[in-house]
Amino acid sequence: MITPILMLGAGRMGGAILEGWDRAGAFDARDILILDPNPSDAARRAQGRGARLNPPDADLAAAQTVILAVKPQKWLEAAGQYAAVLSPEAVIVSIAAGVPSQAIARAFGGRAVARAMPNTAAAINRGVTSLYADDPAARARARTLFEPLGTAVDLGDEALIHAATAISGSGPAYLYAFIEALEAAGAGIGLPRADAERLARATAIGAAALLEATGEEPAELRRQVTSPAGTTEAALNVLLGEHGLPSLLREAAAAAQRRSKELGG
Ligand SMILES: NC(=O)c1ccc[n+]([C@@H]2O[C@H](COP(=O)([O-])OP(=O)(O)OC[C@H]3O[C@@H](n4cnc5c(N)ncnc54)[C@H](OP(=O)(O)O)[C@@H]3O)[C@@H](O)[C@H]2O)c1
Repeated sequence: MITPILMLGAGRMGGAILEGWDRAGAFDARDILILDPNPSDAARRAQGRGARLNPPDADLAAAQTVILAVKPQKWLEAAGQYAAVLSPEAVIVSIAAGVPSQAIARAFGGRAVARAMPNTAAAINRGVTSLYADDPAARARARTLFEPLGTAVDLGDEALIHAATAISGSGPAYLYAFIEALEAAGAGIGLPRADAERLARATAIGAAALLEATGEEPAELRRQVTSPAGTTEAALNVLLGEHGLPSLLREAAAAAQRRSKELGG
């Protein structure tokens, strides 16, 4: 049994998961318990659908699956607060960046643990989640939780979660930053701000949709819009140049990976 599910912390990411499950019709809201002293709007909406928000400790023993969704800085405190009242059979599925499953298992009294690194597009069932667990049953449990929320990718080694976090966990923010920069660039070369915003946003969404619809390699799609000595090539000579996007992203991803390792302590 995967339910009842206890969401331990329901802020930005926990809230996105709750919204995604609702959209996908994945679980009955009445099978969801939420603990959060400062619940997000998404947690309140889940409560409106029948989820139990901040139930008494005595009700927590029913939870079969616990999603640990507090900030990495707060996970240990949360574990200390609730580990003793949970069922010994409860499986812990942690989305806390960086925190190793061994430490989580220790803090939760040796319960089975899976790690998951989702992203916020889970809210619209277009998320990407990397999964890892030593225990096959815990891994299968995590799959059942995250498959309704988009793409789920099994990793072969827990250490790879740091790298996956750097790509798909933090990745949406890189794309938003890119779009912001494209908007600013548009304004910088003379477009009215509102026009620059519409052009940049619609371009990003259209390009991503085309990537999905065609199934082509991104490099092939890039080549298709780059005529020799044309305008795109002029821009790409800058963007893909020596200190351009590839080296910047390598650096950015390495910084995120490093930070993920630090957060794990
Ligand atoms: N945001 C993302 O895109 C993303 C992506 C992948 C993974 N993650 C992971 O998801 C986790 C949560 O991140 P977030 O961005 O959703 O953080 P967040 O918005 O701060 O949400 C965490 C929630 O947990 C609550 N909380 C804190 N201590 C608690 C406790 N002892 N018991 C119950 N609830 C408690 C917080 O309340 P207070 O505000 O009162 O502290 C907050 O409402 C992190 O570990 C992060 O690494 C996030």
